[in-house]
Amino acid sequence: TETAERWVPPDADVAELRRAARDCRGCELWEPATQVVFSAGDVDAALMLIGEQPGDVEDREGIPFVGPAGRLLQRAVEDAGLARDELYVTNAVKHFRFTLRGKRRIHQTPQVSHVLACQPWLAAEIRNVRPELIVVLGATAARSVLGAGFRVTKSRGTVLEAETLVGPARVLATMHPSAVLRLRGEEHDRAYADLVADLHTAGEALR
Ligand code: URA
Ligand code: SF4
Repeated sequence: TETAERWVPPDADVAELRRAARDCRGCELWEPATQVVFSAGDVDAALMLIGEQPGDVEDREGIPFVGPAGRLLQRAVEDAGLARDELYVTNAVKHFRFTLRGKRRIHQTPQVSHVLACQPWLAAEIRNVRPELIVVLGATAARSVLGAGFRVTKSRGTVLEAETLVGPARVLATMHPSAVLRLRGEEHDRAYADLVADLHTAGEALR
């Protein structure tokens, strides 16, 4: 199967990767999407946050985590005592996957094939940024970084020395902000508090 590999320029820095990703045809997701959504934040950050894929708003704006899930994440980052400019933020899959329901574009979870196709971009980003700690947000990012056997619900919230996409690295897994958004009432409040606590743990691991 096709992957992004042949679109990823060798020895490129993040700015060059970002530019090259506009032309990626590593899987079929590029075609219905508006544009590629690469990353945001500091390319020298100690902390790298990896989400699933851009959403509807991100697809239109070309910037990760600027929609509803992004706002929740931003609040959680601040409540955890981190500054967004200490972070490098990206996604496991760089194009928005959706189905049309009338005029509405409904988010669809990327398939394993999309995650695998997009891995060369993520690997190149991790090798460039060389974060002290990688935070995977949810199952899709966890699958890309840690492999299919990893279970976020079993291992969340602790700093792991793990074998990853790019070799041994420190990783902390937590819930995806979109999953927190879907909950209501007490469940939502508990999940949000857990997300903040996990991000706080990540920050503490750097100091
Ligand atoms: N959800 C993600 O995983 N990434 C984004 O950029 C936005 C929402
Ligand atoms: Fe390339 Fe990833 Fe977009 Fe697929 S989702 S076209 S692999 S950038």
